[in-house]
Amino acid sequence: MSKPPVFPMKAPARGAFITLEGGDGAGKTTLLAALAGRLRAAGLECVETREPGGGGALAQHLRTLLLDKVIAAGPVAQTLLHYAARADHLEQIIAPALAGGQWVLCDRYFDSSHAYQGAGLGVDSGLLDTLDGSIVGDMVPDRTLLLDIDPERARSRQAGRGRSPDRYEAQPDGFAERVRAGFLQRAAAEPDRFRVLDAGLGPDALIAAAWTAIADLLPPDGRDGA
Ligand code: TYD
Repeated sequence: MSKPPVFPMKAPARGAFITLEGGDGAGKTTLLAALAGRLRAAGLECVETREPGGGGALAQHLRTLLLDKVIAAGPVAQTLLHYAARADHLEQIIAPALAGGQWVLCDRYFDSSHAYQGAGLGVDSGLLDTLDGSIVGDMVPDRTLLLDIDPERARSRQAGRGRSPDRYEAQPDGFAERVRAGFLQRAAAEPDRFRVLDAGLGPDALIAAAWTAIADLLPPDGRDGA
């Protein structure tokens, strides 16, 4: 009888890739920081990043262009710029971090392109799928937390922050509603990857819900959280 194979004592820990998505004013940024703090407290190494802008100097320059209200880029041009920034981000930050066993928490990723450029601005989903095929490839998040919020409520939150709206926040009525529907449609199509969270919850309830939503990805000794 042949001997059983010899396995290493402990398999190397693999980080998970988690993205946060939602309309403007949903509170992703605050949740991402809280979640990262909790993962670190549970002993996990974690990289916080965002789109557009995460990556090298190229992605940062592209963010400035993409959010500028004065430079009028049409929907397809915007799409290509978002994916150029994404390619840089994957190469510079996301792929190396995951390969090194770190967790990656990313504020927006390819679902935002489908919701904003696709559902919001009418870019053909075939183009988006083709770009995903060659740029995203198998770098699909392990979990995507969609912070769902009524656009009207999000607008009043945004107004309370007192900063001037960027290109997407300044879109005419109906845009935010189409973006929200686009996100919810993606979530319904991929229930294993997505968890939809009510962004109207208070900060403590929201972090608790987010923690529950990623619990199955945590190593067994990290599940109780910090
Ligand atoms: P940002 O200031 O980062 O806003 P937020 O805090 O809401 O994430 O601006 C990012 C904007 O870019 C946001 O309005 C969504 C938009 N966006 C797209 O339209 N397509 C994309 O692929 C991505 C990643 C973002």
